[in-house]
Amino acid sequence: MTDYTAIQALQNEIGPRGQTPINSYNRGPVRRWLVQWGVDSPTARTLPNGELDRIYNDASDEALKALLAQSPTTPPASRPASRPVSEPTPDTQEIAVQLAVLLAKIQAGGSLDEDRVREIVQEALETQRPLVIEFRTDNTVRTVEGATHRALPDLTRMLSAGLNVWLVGPAGSGKTTLAEQAAKALGRPFYSTGAVTSDFRLMGFTTATGDLVRTPFREAFEHGGVFLWDEVDGSNPNALVAFNQALANGCFAFPDGMVTKHQDFVAIAAANTWGTGATTEYIGRVRQDAATLDRFVYLPIDYDEALERDLVGAEYASWVRGVQRLRRAAGELGVKALFTPRASINGARLLAAGLRREVVVQTTLRKGLDDATWAKLESKAREYKAQEAD
Ligand SMILES: Nc1ncnc2c1ncn2[C@@H]1O[C@H](COP(=O)(O)OP(=O)(O)OP(=O)(O)O)[C@@H](O)[C@H]1O
Ligand SMILES: [Mg+2]
Repeated sequence: MTDYTAIQALQNEIGPRGQTPINSYNRGPVRRWLVQWGVDSPTARTLPNGELDRIYNDASDEALKALLAQSPTTPPASRPASRPVSEPTPDTQEIAVQLAVLLAKIQAGGSLDEDRVREIVQEALETQRPLVIEFRTDNTVRTVEGATHRALPDLTRMLSAGLNVWLVGPAGSGKTTLAEQAAKALGRPFYSTGAVTSDFRLMGFTTATGDLVRTPFREAFEHGGVFLWDEVDGSNPNALVAFNQALANGCFAFPDGMVTKHQDFVAIAAANTWGTGATTEYIGRVRQDAATLDRFVYLPIDYDEALERDLVGAEYASWVRGVQRLRRAAGELGVKALFTPRASINGARLLAAGLRREVVVQTTLRKGLDDATWAKLESKAREYKAQEAD
């Protein structure tokens, strides 16, 4: 039965029909919107952004009706029931259905020249990564929707084993998002705090009038949940020592009394460094107490370039490749400049908003780099591009 409430909720999320451009940022809800209307999921997942835009923005519903008329009526067979603990399950069944859809397109497409093959492969690559992955813990299957970093399965396994994890990675590599998604995968509430300047910001305090100020850490510690301490390496080391005591002892003296750690409490620390102090790229980082650092297991989070491409989408693929070449060039030439996925995402947004490419390059990539350094980087990036074309 068609669920009109769900359809309306999705439309509210996407934007008014007839006037909302559909791109990689909002294509997920549009695909769900189509499925709510009865379009089969493999078809919805393989439609490119341009088609999604055309169908969603055709307020007369003719395009939607035409799609429904072509859509197979039998749903894909149900998913297999048993899966290993904490194992994400790329849905092989759905991939098989997607391949079948692609083969049908090839057959229907008549002539099959090189460009058509490239187009089909590009579409397949675009939709190859699952938009929903499943995790099974304690016999419960939970799903995480949307694009995910390749480190999510390992992070989830570490947390479900009860370990506290220190995520270390460069700016914009996806640490904060990973922590939120890991909480979803475990089905636990998510709490977070940014850099803290003193331990009472973490533990809470009582005001002059005797009121207790509770913190996200207190909530997670007392009631259970995944607690993210973001930018932990920019925080006061005393706060981390207090935190460590709480983790090590299983109870902690909060300002209003002793509290026992909830069995579902687990912590993630996110940092740009290993906790051993400032680096040339991350100057404001503080050296943390070695015994405290030893309490964590470390998970390096590098840039997931396939995820970065997914987030930005096929229309701006060449922009993302340009950012990624500059990143590689900076690494090879030893230039201390960051070309992060934020440059890919923000750059694509600015291009979509109609800004000229030179302006976008200046504002998201070049920033304050001097002429000579920029020329070296550009020339190296051009070299990579030429090699790719060979
Ligand atoms: N899986 C994802 N789905 C959607 N957007 C994502 C995902 N991963 C990262 N992003 C986007 O990429 C950008 C960088 O991600 P995030 O903030 O998680 O990185 P970070 O490693 O925490 O960065 P920093 O070190 O600067 O704190 C953000 O704009 C975020 O919304
Ligand atoms: Mg972050």
